[in-house]
Amino acid sequence: MPMEIGTEFDVTIGKPAAGGGFVGRSPDGIVTFVRHALPGERVRVRVTETSSKFLRADAVAILEASPDRVEPACALAGPGGCGGCDYQHASLVAQRRFKGQLIAEQLERLAGITMAVTVEPAVKGDTGLGWRTAVRFSIDEEGRTCLHAHRSSELIPVEHCPIATDQIHAIGVTTHRYPGMEAVSCFGHPDADTALVAFETGPTGFLQTPEVTGAGLSVDGELLTPPARAKVTVGPNRFDVSSESFFQVHRAAARALTAAVMDAARVQPGEQVADLYSGVGLFTVPLALAVGSDGVVISIERSTEATADARRNVRHLSQVQIVTAPVTARTVADLLPGTDVIVMDPARDGAAKGIVDALCSLAPGARRMVFVSCDPATFARDVARAQDQGWHLVSLRALDLFPETEHVEIVGVLER
Ligand SMILES: C[S@@+](CC[C@H](N)C(=O)[O-])C[C@H]1O[C@@H](n2cnc3c(N)ncnc32)[C@H](O)[C@@H]1O
Repeated sequence: MPMEIGTEFDVTIGKPAAGGGFVGRSPDGIVTFVRHALPGERVRVRVTETSSKFLRADAVAILEASPDRVEPACALAGPGGCGGCDYQHASLVAQRRFKGQLIAEQLERLAGITMAVTVEPAVKGDTGLGWRTAVRFSIDEEGRTCLHAHRSSELIPVEHCPIATDQIHAIGVTTHRYPGMEAVSCFGHPDADTALVAFETGPTGFLQTPEVTGAGLSVDGELLTPPARAKVTVGPNRFDVSSESFFQVHRAAARALTAAVMDAARVQPGEQVADLYSGVGLFTVPLALAVGSDGVVISIERSTEATADARRNVRHLSQVQIVTAPVTARTVADLLPGTDVIVMDPARDGAAKGIVDALCSLAPGARRMVFVSCDPATFARDVARAQDQGWHLVSLRALDLFPETEHVEIVGVLER
């Protein structure tokens, strides 16, 4: 059967695949990554993408349904709809099982580690909805707020995103039209003193929408007014977060991840700690409180906006040095000798080449490294690099900080 886009065939679905789908095989035996299906199901698929090695397809009819299947909360979470959520058609228990399998598979494949991985909810009783505190809506030609179709530049108009927080909905951003703009980014966190909205416009200039407050306006990436800042409370600490800075996206993530990192790092008073890719200092502050005034925390982050926030967030902690720089083998070698504990939380790509080696060869040598990651493959690759240098993974926790999507957060502890 010639496999063209739009071809349909029936398939039995196997294990979860990285990228949000599940593995099946076409009648000719070609590996097919199927979205909107579940393991064990018999489904009719329609091919959406072809290549010489594999196919991508959407399940368009469920012939034999899995007991894990549920009704998606969002009408756009189906074939041809919004690409943001991969797993809305699966129960939360099943979603976490898939994520655990994806982590275990990458650890085995890339680092030779065999372990069963249990994924914990971000917070007890998480419903999987109303968690997303930051959304960037692209704007279509009619000025409507949109999200992207899966692996596509196609824009899907969105009036209500059920995974977004009530605070995002309260801003009312999706009730307006923004002709001429490229994107509207919103930050609405239940533990923040204010919501933030930032507009990005194309070369034609910008429009102000008076109903939306707290806006930083930018034209072609250049900020025309300073971005608004929110204060977000996380346990006993408050963090300045400006609209340009990264902040953990799940409403419970900052608290849950901080607790997991502090448990993993087990720093002692007087120690020297490195917080790499440190953002606004979410981990820096509790690490500094744990090492006390006789200790040192060196935090390295390349974003000037995030480090400006971080300097405000640590101004009462003289044991902290905030460094605005990319994390590189050179910054590690220059700034981090004498470090006892390293916490590293890079973006999805993981640590760039050479950084894990540089961390492993610091003198006189750290006693513990905590790798935080939202990507099982780059996490496993970085663990494998550390293993090559004589370190090993001693524990791992996985947190469901991105319900309804294939994404998952990992906190791994490595020791020599
Ligand atoms: C996943 S966030 C973690 C931030 C922080 N740990 C937190 O939980 O809020 C990754 C951070 O790494 C920063 N970043 C990305 N690439 C970087 C690089 N090459 N060097 C330093 N920082 C980088 C980003 O700006 C972002 O703040």
